Amino acid sequence: MKSADVNHIYFDGRHYDSQHKRYIPDIPFWIRQARKYGEPILELACGTGRIAITLAEKGFQVTGIDISESMLSKAIKKSSLKKINVEWVKADMRDFSLRKKFSLIILPFNSVCHLLSLEDIEGCFSSARKHLKTGGRFIIDVFNPHLNTLLREPTKRYPHTTYVNPDGKEIVKVTQTNIYDDAAQINRIKLYYRIGHQKEKIEELNMRIFYPQEIDALVKYNGFIIERKIGNYDETIFKSGSPKQIIVCHR
Ligand SMILES: C[S@@+](CC[C@H](N)C(=O)[O-])C[C@H]1O[C@@H](n2cnc3c(N)ncnc32)[C@H](O)[C@@H]1O
Repeated sequence: MKSADVNHIYFDGRHYDSQHKRYIPDIPFWIRQARKYGEPILELACGTGRIAITLAEKGFQVTGIDISESMLSKAIKKSSLKKINVEWVKADMRDFSLRKKFSLIILPFNSVCHLLSLEDIEGCFSSARKHLKTGGRFIIDVFNPHLNTLLREPTKRYPHTTYVNPDGKEIVKVTQTNIYDDAAQINRIKLYYRIGHQKEKIEELNMRIFYPQEIDALVKYNGFIIERKIGNYDETIFKSGSPKQIIVCHR
């Protein structure tokens, strides 16, 4: 495994879950893709199993890989409480080997933005390609970058989210600043966690930004054929102003 430069915001799966409790708009989309393309399914960067567990609950055979121990241990706890069978593997999506092939490989919820360098992207796409069955699909879901957000005033704090502290009852307020490095195409975000009267906790989150023509080229020159490009979870065609870039491709 490569050096574990996992973003520290994934320090605690319980905080991730508390933060994303209400985030479900992509779930019906992934269920439809699972029904269409079949199993076994591999989710790259599966986190605490938000999507993987839901697909397994619908009866699909699912494997989830993630680099973060804490995120995976929360996933394991949740699936065993529900008596749902998911194969969890601690692995780096930039270079993995599972000795198994899949009908559907998914990279949801902007996790592709954790691939910061060209080497990272090539490693991930090549590993995905090796694990895809002939006729199988690889689906990447990432936001369509918004220049106004990237170029915001770097010293100004913007609201990010609020959620209930899993260790108590108080509300955690998260604000953020960002500096966009337009040479590396990395948005360097700082998240400021205000938990009750505790000292503010600061975490860094680096996100590689993918422009539409560029991600299409990366997918194509890493051995995939794009079958459809979707602009949102309702499966409308991708166009100028679409909030999402959802790429459905095959080998
Ligand atoms: C935005 S979360 C998405 C989690 C889950 N897919 C979901 O939709 O809720 C991103 C996840 O990527 C994982 N991650 C980051 N870099 C990774 C890598 N190189 N290999 C595997 N997982 C990685 C993090 O640990 C985190 O769980």
